[in-house]
Amino acid sequence: MGTIYAIANQKGGVGKTTTAVNVAACIAEAGYPTLLVDIDPQANATVGLGLPKDGRPSVYDVLSGAATADEAIRPSDVAGLSVLPSHPDLAGAGVELPRTAGSEGRLRDALEPIRERFAYVLLDCPPSLGPLTVNALVAADRVIVPVQTEYFALEGLAGLLDTLSLIRRELNPRLTVAGMILTMHDGRTRLARDVEREVREHFPSLVFDTVIPRNVRVGEAPSFGRPVIHHDPHCSGSDAYFELAKEVAARG
Ligand SMILES: Nc1ncnc2c1ncn2[C@@H]1O[C@H](COP(=O)(O)OP(=O)(O)OP(=O)(O)O)[C@@H](O)[C@H]1O
Ligand SMILES: [Mg+2]
Repeated sequence: MGTIYAIANQKGGVGKTTTAVNVAACIAEAGYPTLLVDIDPQANATVGLGLPKDGRPSVYDVLSGAATADEAIRPSDVAGLSVLPSHPDLAGAGVELPRTAGSEGRLRDALEPIRERFAYVLLDCPPSLGPLTVNALVAADRVIVPVQTEYFALEGLAGLLDTLSLIRRELNPRLTVAGMILTMHDGRTRLARDVEREVREHFPSLVFDTVIPRNVRVGEAPSFGRPVIHHDPHCSGSDAYFELAKEVAARG
């Protein structure tokens, strides 16, 4: 049975999608069947892997019960990496879902029949702690929290950890934090180094050793519809995401 990771942080633009796409690609490249579920109506992960953002059936149809996960999953250009794509309609699910009792478990239940086919399932969450992220956290075994090494990085992390505790207590007792990953790090600036030190001091056991550098190739890869390891396998961003994927797998 595979492990399900939610990539979550309610703060926007911290590198959730970039981390989800590239860790998924690295793990698949290493030979493990991997599924990326795009549960963000922005559909950045879907588009970043070269799929259309308005294809059907999508994760919206899966959450609303109109399609099974098996019907909605599509292959990507990365060998071994499948995608359960998003759709702009998913924006409405944030409103529709809470109207039905037990809707927090929709994604978990939908993934149940297919999870044995994948060694790893990664869930790319939207920048909020709303119903879609709650669905992801109920379906997940572990959470990876990307943290941008910028001023205000720590802001919101305490709230996020409180939410994780609440979900663990009320809805998903097996949920644990796999780790925090420092992203878009610019080692030349004192600010980035200070923020890194501060986050490591606050959460000594949680922060991954690997740090993702700010790297132009990482930023431009999605516009070609591919992960950075296919866009430029030898850039610093590809090296870092390979290292992170190894750390994630090693933490089990
Ligand atoms: N290591 C990096 N180097 C350069 N650019 C990066 C890096 N990581 C992410 N980016 C860019 O920063 C922006 C935000 O990253 P990303 O979309 O992964 O964040 P996010 O947390 O998923 O955002 P949202 O909250 O909107 O879903 C994107 O344009 C992305 O290409
Ligand atoms: Mg995103």
